[in-house]
Amino acid sequence: MAILESDLARDLEHNNANGSISSVRVPLNRARHVTSQIYYSQEIFDLEKEKIFMKDWLCVARNEEVERPGDYMTLRIMGEPVLLVRDNGGKLRAFRNMCAHRGVEVINGAGCTKEFSCPYHGWRYDLAGRLTGAPLMNENELFDSEKSSLPEIKLGTWAGWIFINFDPTCGPLAERISDFANDLAFLKMEDCRLASKIRIELDCNWKLVVENLLDVYHVAVLHGGSFGKYRGPAEKQTIHMRKQGGTFTTYTSAPMLPGGQTLFRNMPAIADRGPNFAVSSHLAPNLQVITRSDNCHPQIMWPATPTTSYFDVYIMFPNEFFAERDLEQRVKLYHDYMIYALEEDRSMICSLQRAMESRYYTPGPMAKLEISIHHLLNDYLDRLFGPDFPNR
Ligand code: FES
Ligand SMILES: [Fe+2]
Repeated sequence: MAILESDLARDLEHNNANGSISSVRVPLNRARHVTSQIYYSQEIFDLEKEKIFMKDWLCVARNEEVERPGDYMTLRIMGEPVLLVRDNGGKLRAFRNMCAHRGVEVINGAGCTKEFSCPYHGWRYDLAGRLTGAPLMNENELFDSEKSSLPEIKLGTWAGWIFINFDPTCGPLAERISDFANDLAFLKMEDCRLASKIRIELDCNWKLVVENLLDVYHVAVLHGGSFGKYRGPAEKQTIHMRKQGGTFTTYTSAPMLPGGQTLFRNMPAIADRGPNFAVSSHLAPNLQVITRSDNCHPQIMWPATPTTSYFDVYIMFPNEFFAERDLEQRVKLYHDYMIYALEEDRSMICSLQRAMESRYYTPGPMAKLEISIHHLLNDYLDRLFGPDFPNR
């Protein structure tokens, strides 16, 4: 891997007509966007899996998606099948969703179950991942039911969010997310529930979706006819840079509805902040928490292939709003407007992807308002190639 990495890094730096890495490894007022190759190369994608997604804590779900004993959901993260389940004792667990026989996913989708029975040859597992049955296997002397549990993946929770880490040697979640957790504690997301979840698939590299959410430069232009109308000027906004590519900012922006008027009221945790209070915070590699005064709508971006991705939007409201009349109808208006706003972004980021894959693209200089993207890309390159490449 070491040889591949350095060869790849050198290639990106020197043999590439579409920009370089060093163009972003300088202060923002001298920086250019980075080489387009990182947005479509299979080698980069493989390195991202190795160095980022198989190493860092990843936010994968909300607590309330697997709330009762037996509730489960399945995911595939860069091709790796994962099973999340709440066991009979109420403990959340994550497993590699891979049968100990030939590796078939023991269950798909989401639901509530008493056990998992592999659909291929019928090996059975309890909710703690232990093998409880394997038809006709006793004659093979290698078979050991004690050693045939589903392999467990590290799991941690914070404010109702479930995180996993594929790396068994990783440090604690609390340490990794300490900045982010301190910044966002006041929102009390643990007192919110998921009201609606939106999955959006895109023909672009996952990083373009992440960057787009950090890009405050485009909002007044691209969204000028929609929610951008109700947003304060981005140049007046202070954006705080946090460790390992994180960011935190508060700003002025109305609730995410066509007229910018809430259908509820402020969330209790921020009752004193005014109707147009907004927050955005990034936790690398792929979680963006965005809130308005009346709800939270975090987004999690996932790579699918080097040139395709998908993301989930979690529309959440405080628990106490769920007791109100017409909740579903009101939530639907937030849901529909979110899709409308995101479609405005889709056309731009798909156009960006075409540019990345064009032989004629030359990365342009970065705007001051792209400070978060500059910060994020530098952390990303640190992770892929080490902090010293290419001679900062
Ligand atoms: S692969 Fe699961 S029982 Fe054979
Ligand atoms: Fe946007």
